[in-house]
Amino acid sequence: MASAPQDHTTGSGAPGAPEAVVGRYGEALFRPEHQGEGDRIDHAALVYDPFTRARLRDLGVGPGWRCLDVGAGTGTVARWLAEEAGADEVVALDRDTSHLVPIAGPRLRVRAADLTRLASETGLGTFDLVHARFVLMHLPERRALLTQLADLLNPGGYLVLSDAADVPDPADTQSAYRRTLDAMWRTLGETIGTDIAAVRAHPHALRAEGLDAVAAELVCPPLTPGAPLTAFWSDTWQRMRPALLAPGGLDAATLDEALAYLESPGLAELGPGMLTAWGRRPDPRG
Ligand SMILES: C[S@@+](CC[C@H](N)C(=O)[O-])C[C@H]1O[C@@H](n2cnc3c(N)ncnc32)[C@H](O)[C@@H]1O
Repeated sequence: MASAPQDHTTGSGAPGAPEAVVGRYGEALFRPEHQGEGDRIDHAALVYDPFTRARLRDLGVGPGWRCLDVGAGTGTVARWLAEEAGADEVVALDRDTSHLVPIAGPRLRVRAADLTRLASETGLGTFDLVHARFVLMHLPERRALLTQLADLLNPGGYLVLSDAADVPDPADTQSAYRRTLDAMWRTLGETIGTDIAAVRAHPHALRAEGLDAVAAELVCPPLTPGAPLTAFWSDTWQRMRPALLAPGGLDAATLDEALAYLESPGLAELGPGMLTAWGRRPDPRG
């Protein structure tokens, strides 16, 4: 089902133009060895962890649960599940486990694996919670992966998927902020296959997998100067700078204006948020 990771370049077509790198998450963009990548992930985690925890608590996570966090990143959710929510066992899976290995413990197991090859992973077992945050949006195989993740659920177990959601002001098509965000989503799509529009289909996909109690929610935390969420977008845009400024893309003055705006007292935006969808594997025992 999944194609092998690519690591090739593709030209813009213009003779002599620099070529845009195409690959997967962690290859073409967001390489784990890039200094500060863990901090970038943590900036978003800091903002969204309270919402994730509240949702997982509401679904009943706690003692007796076996949990899988896929694309676990720096492990803030996996660690909370193991150390505070009291889950019996948590498996934190990522293609890059450099931030996870140091936090492994008796209840927190770390697994290095490529999600696009999940079908060939053996011995994972089944789970009462399978959680993926800001992961499926980046993987073009997201629909097939959703099926595979749903298949890992115990009866009564929950699949919880969170991804980015952008809620643009339709009247603003020209601001540097809007043009930078639009360029970012476009570039992410063209380089690693990110699609945030596709994640709106998650509730229907969860239902199609036979899950019940399907629901979804959207949170858009405030975007204010100096806040971790603002730092996350600033880090992300700076990290993507060469890709954003590739031929046919954004110009440097627009990107710099958008970056300065993020830190200015005049910042006034409904920033991108997080869409969470969940569903439960029916339990014949009730
Ligand atoms: C944006 S980060 C989100 C991290 C974490 N879920 C969170 O919300 O804080 C995406 C994570 O997915 C992981 N990832 C991306 N593609 C992957 C793949 N094919 N297999 C496994 N992990 C992957 C990355 O290494 C990274 O840790």
